Amino acid sequence: MELRELILKKRDGGELTRDEITYLVKGVTDGSFPDYQLSAFLMATVFRGMTEAETAALTMEMAHSGDTVDLSGLSHTVDKHSTGGVGDKTSLIVGPIAAACGCTVAKMSGRGLGHTGGTVDKLESVPGVKTEFTKEQFLKQAKEVGLIIAGQSGELAPADKKLYALRDVTGTVESLPLIVSSIMSKKLASGAESILLDVKTGSGAFMHTLEDSEALAREMVKIGRACGRRIDAVISDMSVPLGNNIGNALEVREAMDVLRGEGPDDLKELCLTLAAGMVRLSFDMTKEQAMEKTKRALEGGHAAECFSRFLVAQGAVADPMEKPDCLPNAKYQIEVKAQEDGYIQALDALTCGNVCLRLGAGRMTKTDHIDPAAGIVLCRKIGDFVRCGDTLAVIHTSREADPAWLLSAYTFSDSPAAKRKLIYKSSF
Ligand code: URA
Repeated sequence: MELRELILKKRDGGELTRDEITYLVKGVTDGSFPDYQLSAFLMATVFRGMTEAETAALTMEMAHSGDTVDLSGLSHTVDKHSTGGVGDKTSLIVGPIAAACGCTVAKMSGRGLGHTGGTVDKLESVPGVKTEFTKEQFLKQAKEVGLIIAGQSGELAPADKKLYALRDVTGTVESLPLIVSSIMSKKLASGAESILLDVKTGSGAFMHTLEDSEALAREMVKIGRACGRRIDAVISDMSVPLGNNIGNALEVREAMDVLRGEGPDDLKELCLTLAAGMVRLSFDMTKEQAMEKTKRALEGGHAAECFSRFLVAQGAVADPMEKPDCLPNAKYQIEVKAQEDGYIQALDALTCGNVCLRLGAGRMTKTDHIDPAAGIVLCRKIGDFVRCGDTLAVIHTSREADPAWLLSAYTFSDSPAAKRKLIYKSSF
């Protein structure tokens, strides 16, 4: 068998056999395939898709491409994963909330992907924080702190680590089977008994329509249930950035605001829904009971305490909840001013994500180093009325940046915008 044959078969719309998928994932894992051939295979998959059987086989092979973690010695283990968005810092908030509710959150996260941010990059913007652990360290912290967020080590789902980095820079993220196998291989390998998925929909998501997002959610839920996990999904809006801050350290700051009981309403609402979903799955509660427990953990400050313990356990040199100045700041702050009077009708998440990439908050090539301080703070959002000259946003950067890049994300009108839906569906 040769990878070239598999590329041709997929390019021509064929269905790969289980043996061919096993061969593919083995070669990805042991590094025997060159990036250019894998990239061609990924692009063929973006255009041709995969059958359900191929997607399930790819997911299982990737989940077993390295070690799997046995969390059976821990109680109420739960994981959460987002399909990727702009300003999506929910893992930094819902992890501590769920842990403060008595769950064990043992989570494997990714780096930025395409125009979207990644939890691992956000965490690493906190000086000292590391995200690579051995299996023993992963289990120890999960047990002692109730919360660990690990990046992909060479040990867990290594095939996804390799494909994820390639997809990030080759325009091959937007594919249902590639997203399903990437997310579910990590979730299955990292062993939690309950899994909550946050499937994004809209311009800043990898699935732009509600229909495609629901199909993605259904396929992941189906695979998770077939593997004996308690799993559910929420569909949430990503046509507008979530919260006000976009960019790694800026998002850590906003996550801390929410944990302190402050922060923007959309972010708070989604985090409470997700955290309650995790608690409900873990403790087999009603939605109402889970929401009550979740709110108590947030409002009583227990989640904030858990966040501090978690960061220190992951190596933070200082606790940013106490010393926010330890987080990096960008050299320049450039105001973006409105060029006309009007109501903000739209604020395109994809444009905002792409501006952040240009600022260095994400990677253009596999070897790029990101700037942890780069990003955008949105001062006005959809529905707000602004006058010409008002500050719409502030760009945080260490590079040259043009406010016009971000202005193209805004649409103005004479009448107020209709209220936007944040959560389209909260169970499957
Ligand atoms: N998150 C992942 O881990 N993988 C994807 O493909 C998309 C989002």
